Amino acid sequence: MLVKKIVALFLLVFVISSCSQKLKGGITPQIIPTPLNQDIKEGQFVLNNATGIKYPEALKVSAELLKSFIENGSDFQLKTSNDIEFILDSELNNKEGYVLDVQPKKIKIRASTDQGAFYAVQSLKQLLPLEFENKSLKEKQIAIKCVTIHDAPQFKYRGMHLDVGRHFFSVNFIKKYVDALAMLKMNTFHWHLTEDQGWRIEIKKYPKLQEVGAFRNETLVGHYNDEPQQFDGKRYGGFYSQDEIKDIIAYAQARHVTVIPEIEMPGHSQAAIAAYPELGCSNEKVEVATKWGVFEDIYCTKDETFNFLEDVLDEVLELFPSNYIHIGGDEAPKIRWKTCNDCQHRIKTEGLKDEHELQNYFITRIEKYLNSKGRQIIGWDEILEGGLAPNATVMSWRGIHGAVEAAKQHHNVILTPGSHCYFDHYQSTNSSEPLAIGGFLPLDKVYSFNPIPEELTEEESEYVLGAQGNIWTEYIPTEAQVEYMAFPRILAMSEVVWSNPENKNYDDFVSRVENFNRRLDILDINYANHLYEVEGNLISENDKILYRLESLIKGKTKRYTLDESEPNINSETYSTPIVITKSVTLKAAVFNTEEKLGSVFSETINLHKAVGKQISINVDPHKSYLGSGAQGLINGISGSDKRNGDKEWLGFWGDDLEITIDFGEETEIESVETRFHNGQGQWIYAPEKVQVSIDNNLFKDYLVEKSNELLENFQVNFEGVKGRVITLKIPSYGIIPEGKQGAGQKAWTFIDEIIIN
Ligand code: ACM
Ligand code: ZN
Repeated sequence: MLVKKIVALFLLVFVISSCSQKLKGGITPQIIPTPLNQDIKEGQFVLNNATGIKYPEALKVSAELLKSFIENGSDFQLKTSNDIEFILDSELNNKEGYVLDVQPKKIKIRASTDQGAFYAVQSLKQLLPLEFENKSLKEKQIAIKCVTIHDAPQFKYRGMHLDVGRHFFSVNFIKKYVDALAMLKMNTFHWHLTEDQGWRIEIKKYPKLQEVGAFRNETLVGHYNDEPQQFDGKRYGGFYSQDEIKDIIAYAQARHVTVIPEIEMPGHSQAAIAAYPELGCSNEKVEVATKWGVFEDIYCTKDETFNFLEDVLDEVLELFPSNYIHIGGDEAPKIRWKTCNDCQHRIKTEGLKDEHELQNYFITRIEKYLNSKGRQIIGWDEILEGGLAPNATVMSWRGIHGAVEAAKQHHNVILTPGSHCYFDHYQSTNSSEPLAIGGFLPLDKVYSFNPIPEELTEEESEYVLGAQGNIWTEYIPTEAQVEYMAFPRILAMSEVVWSNPENKNYDDFVSRVENFNRRLDILDINYANHLYEVEGNLISENDKILYRLESLIKGKTKRYTLDESEPNINSETYSTPIVITKSVTLKAAVFNTEEKLGSVFSETINLHKAVGKQISINVDPHKSYLGSGAQGLINGISGSDKRNGDKEWLGFWGDDLEITIDFGEETEIESVETRFHNGQGQWIYAPEKVQVSIDNNLFKDYLVEKSNELLENFQVNFEGVKGRVITLKIPSYGIIPEGKQGAGQKAWTFIDEIIIN
């Protein structure tokens, strides 16, 4: 009897333990972009060769996508039964929304459209073991954690842009890019197809666009600001045939990604004018541009140009089914128009005030044409100048001002401000980063972006369609580097446009990114990994100067040195802020128990006389370039040589500055030094002079001696001077001169640490 009972008990334990045997999978959801609402439950669904799938005709595309993803990734063949059931649910009022309900015996996917079901499938894929992605699953069954997800996007327009004009990328790569967008529930690919440096779309009526406009003789090497500029001497180019474009559009359509073509006008059109010189004002031959920047040869406003553009657009409309056509509109210098008989004649006959109104005439005329074909235009925010075309949607890139102005005029807007959406900017202050155009846009800054400007009322904010990350490729020659600049910032952008702001949490996001990186490895996506980098801040507390270290990933050990040696596994462990008593170089890195994980962080702290003292500035820095505030100018730490958007540089747009530093007691002053950024391609100009006053004595002018470098040093020396308060007045450079990028706009001032000895 007893033996029987023991055997029965043994069997019972065996059965229970085999039921709950650890299957591969059962992953706790770490979905990116984070869903609106998810309820993680006990239990798991077991997926194997006996699993069935069932779907209505309306959700067939997405259901079959899931079926083939599972079947291609494993040895399973899905049957026809409702273990995994797609349900058309017209009650779900967001057509991109879905409900994904994983129960122990059943997976239900509800959506009112195939697009909603498609996004459910994207979420479900992230609940499956990674092996499905590279078709390496060996197991006979796997587990999916039970969860109920109710999800819908925050914004209608969720985009990524890619410039294929400066550098050209293969059809396969464009598809890989579209796949990445779809995986992250983004629904728009803004394809920037024409540029000064290359025309990339086949237009059958104008073969020279391909033969001439698609190729340049050589390309700038290094940075635009390098002196002297150097070129590689190699012919470069390519274009997409209409068949290739159709193929890409169909590929994107199957993934619910709308492709919006951008055909730039009236500016950024030098490649077209190189092919057909009669499109310009002077009829003179120009070359396809070989360096970056803004070019003065733009389309003339004579009728022949409009005939050409209408012909081009006819072929574009034939190819692209998108409601929107992007017509550019940015950075069009008016110099040629000013001296062109045709353009001046146009101004007269149309009763226009000036060349800005002529730009409005240009855009409005094209808009009318496209509207007559049932399409809408998007233009960069310059299309606001001289009046907005009646139905235009504005893409705000020079900050958010264009979006605010357009939304107040009841026009739709898409936010892509340089400060938060330009993925061609540096993403780390690490000096080993590949050369980039400039700027500084780390992951957390993208993540913090709110596409709805504060200046808008609730009603006006209805005009915000969404946001987009932009990848301009002047400094991005390879596909691997496009990925490096896109990832992980695109992950942050996907949450900006999809996720509810109330669900956003940066630390949680970062831990999901760490997990997501394994998927990117398998997908062979070349992401940047700065998760294990260390950052630091100088703080002053109770008359002590302390240095605090932080890393993006929490809960890992940081080790540091103060003697310029490289930190290793035996270096000091960081626990509380380090007391700084003299000028030092601090080096630190993140370690696990065996090795260093990220790169070494190095900070030189210069304990000069102003560190930790009082400082004030008459105006706040521009909110996109706050650095570490005024105190950051006297924190003993200089900004990066290249990244003017880091936390040490402060940026001001057109303001005259007055900076006051109070030492608290009379102090001997021997020298005052600082640096100004002079990245003129980004509208940043060092000031002409600095006026200095000590203890309210008369201001004396000191010229900034220009060396025409990217960084301009300023230094003034004193002898036998004592004082308690020093005031620097720094007048803005003023308006950017003609012939330079941003001509006519206010120049930016970027100032670095003010070092006082
Ligand atoms: C732009 O970055 N020129 C729109
Ligand atoms: Zn002209």
